[in-house]
Amino acid sequence: MDFLSRPGLKLALGSDHAGFELKQSIAQYLREKNIQFEDFGAHSSDRVDYPDYAVKVARAVAAGKFTAGILICGTGIGMSIVANKIRGIRAALCTSEYMAEYSRRHNDANILCLGGRILSPEEARRITEAWLTSPFEAGRHAQRLRKMAELTGRE
Ligand code: RB5
Repeated sequence: MDFLSRPGLKLALGSDHAGFELKQSIAQYLREKNIQFEDFGAHSSDRVDYPDYAVKVARAVAAGKFTAGILICGTGIGMSIVANKIRGIRAALCTSEYMAEYSRRHNDANILCLGGRILSPEEARRITEAWLTSPFEAGRHAQRLRKMAELTGRE
C-alpha cells in the first residue's frame, strides 16, 4: 500500500540550514494535502549539523512513531548517509520522480532524502508526491530487503 493510502499517515520532517527553505515548502505542500506531519527542525537558516536532525527523524521512524520521514540537506547526501546508519531505516536520496517511485516500489524506502541546493520547490513537490503514492511491490523485492536486514538484524 502506498503511504498516502495508509490510515493514520504521519510523516517526520527534518532538515539542516541548507535544506530549511525546501523543508518549509514541503511542509506547506503537506498542509495543502492535509497530510499530518511533525517538523523536527531545523527551524531557521542558522548553520547546524545535519546528523543531529537525521538521527532524530530516523529514530522516530524506526521506533514506529511515524509512518515515514523526509530529510533535506544541501545535497541530500549527508542526511541519507546518517539515516541509513539507524536500524530499520531505508533512506533513499532521490533527484527524480522515477527514483522516488522506484525507491518505494523496489526498496520500500521509509525515508525520502532531498537536496535543498539541487531541487526547485516544484521538482521537490513532484518527487514527494511520486514517493507518497507509490506502493512497495514486495514479491522478489521482499527477499532482497530480507538480505539487507540480515546486515543489521532488522528490516
Ligand atoms: C551544509 O553546508 C551541507 O554540507 C549539508 O547541507 C549537506 O549537503 C551535506 O551532505
